[in-house]
Amino acid sequence: MRRTVVSTLLVVPALLASAACVHGQSEASSATTADAEQAEAFAFVQANCASCHAIEGGSLSSNPQAPRFVDIANRDWLTRKSLAAWLADAHNYPEMMNVDLAPEQVDAVAGYMLTLRSEDYQRLPD
Ligand code: HEC
Repeated sequence: MRRTVVSTLLVVPALLASAACVHGQSEASSATTADAEQAEAFAFVQANCASCHAIEGGSLSSNPQAPRFVDIANRDWLTRKSLAAWLADAHNYPEMMNVDLAPEQVDAVAGYMLTLRSEDYQRLPD
């Protein structure tokens, strides 16, 4: 049993890698995977965060107490690491923010939020 599991782990990535090479699409297919992950992350924040936060650049938060994701993402001092650390620790959350993220969701959400970082970012006037 144990033997089977180990050999499957070794064989599957090798098969995937060789399939990618045969078709000469390894770059294209990794871009597609990244796009799919972005789309999934967007759908996730739309379902779980958008009821309070503005999750896209141009919009306003439905809950005025909840900062817009674009404002969070464009803070000078914010890094992917600090954002992920905050998201991973539900104790930080305001009481009304009833979410609990699994590690891969933390990663996806942090990745998505950082796509909102932009040179052209302007804070809304208060
Ligand atoms: C029910 C409303 C609500 C929902 C849903 C919600 N939030 Fe929040 N969130 C808030 C409020 C309000 C604050 C601001 C709390 C404060 O400033 O004390 C906040 C703060 C934050 C902050 C920190 C902002 C800062 O100032 O440092 C992050 C990051 C964040 N939310 C991410 C998320 C993510 C990701 C989701 C979805 C998985 C989510 N929130 C869902 C209400 C919500």
